[in-house]
Amino acid sequence: MSNQTVFHLGLTRDQLENIDLVLLPGDPQRVPKIAMHLENTKTLAHLREFHSIVGERDGRRILITSTGIGGPSAAIAVEELAMLGLKNFLRIGTTGAIQEGIKAGDLIISTGAVRLDGASRHIAPIEYPAIANFEMIAALNQAAKKSGATFHCGITASSDTFYQGQNRLDSFRNGFLIRAMRDQLTELKGLNVLSYEMEAATIFTQAACYGLRAACILGVLVNRNHDEFPSDETLKKTENTVIEVAIQSLDYL
Ligand code: URA
Repeated sequence: MSNQTVFHLGLTRDQLENIDLVLLPGDPQRVPKIAMHLENTKTLAHLREFHSIVGERDGRRILITSTGIGGPSAAIAVEELAMLGLKNFLRIGTTGAIQEGIKAGDLIISTGAVRLDGASRHIAPIEYPAIANFEMIAALNQAAKKSGATFHCGITASSDTFYQGQNRLDSFRNGFLIRAMRDQLTELKGLNVLSYEMEAATIFTQAACYGLRAACILGVLVNRNHDEFPSDETLKKTENTVIEVAIQSLDYL
């Protein structure tokens, strides 16, 4: 499959020669923001939610590809990148904290994800754990420590829906939930889950099943015990912090 493109990403193996690590933001607009931290960057493709830029850090070639929102599109990105020879997957995302004491602007390193998504169930049975790679967690941990940012390590939850699956009140039906979803936030909080996001469980499950490595670092946009909506300032600042720490972690990977 050297020059043959994959179904969605519009990338070929030739373009990705000597690249074994990919940074995975959800938002395609975050791709150029991450690329600003690399040298010799080049846009390779931008199809649907999948925006790919290649660049270098200290002479090492790194790919950045956005996954879009949620497990289904993240699963396509990881599947096709694995087919193209990528081996290390680092998600750079945002999250809503559910534990008191975690503040907007803090970082979370996800050690494993509660599989509330649907996509990972197509890849492995629900008993299979969605866990991050140990060496990649350690690299993120070192970079976060060095940065001086406040960070937390622990289990996060990946939901397919942003509103119902994360028990939000600011929805069209003012927080109406089916029985299966009611009090889920309280239950996860009681299980010491740190936060909600939407892609880690799918990416961790895929990587572990395929014998590849994945990890995830998240910027906290809101604490769901108090807020549902971040300020523009928090959004910008948190996005910058999570990108900087993820980039620094490359030194340990
Ligand atoms: N991403 C999510 O999935 N939930 C949040 O609350 C914030 C970012």
